[in-house]
Amino acid sequence: MTDIATIEQLAKKKGFFYPSDEIYGGLSGFYTYGHLGTLMKRKLENLWRKFFLDEENFYEIDPSLIMSEKVFEASGHLKSFVDPVVKCTKCGTSHRADQIVENFLNRTFEGATPKELTDLIKEHNIKCPKCKGALEEVGILNMMFFLNIGVEGDTKGYLRPETAQGAYVNFLNQFNIQRKKIPMGLAIVGRAFRNEISPRQLTTRMREFTQAELQIFFDSDKVNDHEKWSDCKDYKLIVLPVSDRDKKSKIEMTCEELSKRIPRFYVYYMAKVQKFFLEALKIPKDKFRFRELSDEEKAFYNKIHWDMELNLESLDGFKEIGGVHYRADHDLSGHQKVSKQSQEIFFENKKFVPHILELSFGVDRMFFALLDLFYSKEKDKVVLKLPACIAPVAVSIFPLVNKDGLDKKAKEVFEKLRCYLDAFYDDSGSIGRMYARADEAGTPFCVTIDYDTMKDNTVTLRNRDTTNQQRVEIKDLIEAISKLIEDKNNL
Ligand code: GAP
Repeated sequence: MTDIATIEQLAKKKGFFYPSDEIYGGLSGFYTYGHLGTLMKRKLENLWRKFFLDEENFYEIDPSLIMSEKVFEASGHLKSFVDPVVKCTKCGTSHRADQIVENFLNRTFEGATPKELTDLIKEHNIKCPKCKGALEEVGILNMMFFLNIGVEGDTKGYLRPETAQGAYVNFLNQFNIQRKKIPMGLAIVGRAFRNEISPRQLTTRMREFTQAELQIFFDSDKVNDHEKWSDCKDYKLIVLPVSDRDKKSKIEMTCEELSKRIPRFYVYYMAKVQKFFLEALKIPKDKFRFRELSDEEKAFYNKIHWDMELNLESLDGFKEIGGVHYRADHDLSGHQKVSKQSQEIFFENKKFVPHILELSFGVDRMFFALLDLFYSKEKDKVVLKLPACIAPVAVSIFPLVNKDGLDKKAKEVFEKLRCYLDAFYDDSGSIGRMYARADEAGTPFCVTIDYDTMKDNTVTLRNRDTTNQQRVEIKDLIEAISKLIEDKNNL
């Protein structure tokens, strides 16, 4: 059983992540990635880049994290990016009102108004979960972090609550710099900030987190097709439509079938997203689903909204990891109105504001999910069976014993490997201990230098998941390991 405490302990012990500012008692909603965590997060982000930026006219940009107030007036975040909050009259703690009601009544209340939530609290006599005190009326809180910019502090700004707006305000610049054609994709991998009322569940709800988002600008007249439709039309998507919510069971349907009610352009990218989870990240099929959001649940900017969810044992069920969002012209038209700068383009003999399809992923939630899904306990040993391409360390190198020149030889091999692979040298404790440490860190391959190495320049290459071993010549090691990382079956 993988519970949240197990993941927390492992993350801390191995330095995947731990609370920020711990020497001052920690800062709620903020986490620091340690060395292994940083290596793995970078690989995860790079895998995402490699997978989603493989299309012609798709680019990555890196805009500012602090943006002017006008941006969020135009996007609607100033008015609508709010959560319902309720304060305890006794202990003063503020809670997210919808969650308190949800936990009490065991139903979801996403999208409920403050008045509806207040009525439910009164009707069911719901009390503060912390001290059982009475609760005030439900109010709303804007989740953005406000900033006074400049010496006088008279320029108003906000830390961006989503990376997306950076792509929208840069759209025309990029359109003109690049090929002046659409579809055009703009990706941003970076931090977003939200003053969450109740940060919780480790890195799944933080106040500072990383998103990987891709904004695809396209012609809305072509929403019912995609030029590569034939590649995906028979591919089966795992979905939970609103209409099947009560059955709670996900179903499989081909892209062609789903496209009878959802535009093809949208469905094409659902298939791409599912392939990322199942094929690139190797998430077991039964752990994945797309969940359609009802009109009340959809984000305020979305016309069509399905979330990608993963079934995580430590969180007792399916958890949102990202979403496919058809934002239509909500954002570009908003910026056009507030900035008074036309966001229209002239393309294929037409003048129009492009529509936007957004693929939005929470990197920290994916990271957390990977620890949950690939954690395994075998007898007393923890083995983190991460896919080799995102394991923080690709290969650990040890001498069988620390004498007779084996340690010197092991260091030589390490120096050679580290130029090409994330390699780690270990020589403390028995060989069993060193294997166990590597397994717990998710290291897919271990190389042991033994007495035979001194005679014939071969080493033992061991696979974490099968524990199979093979002899490989030192000169062939880099190629052998690189091939195994790419190879689905490993040894
Ligand atoms: N641009 C669209 C957007 O921001 P969202 O559903 O609000 O959509 C996208 O966020 C993803 O970002 C979520 O699915 C989740 O994975 C991640 N995310 C959102 N809030 C988060 C938080 N407080 N902590 C960690 N990840 C978060």
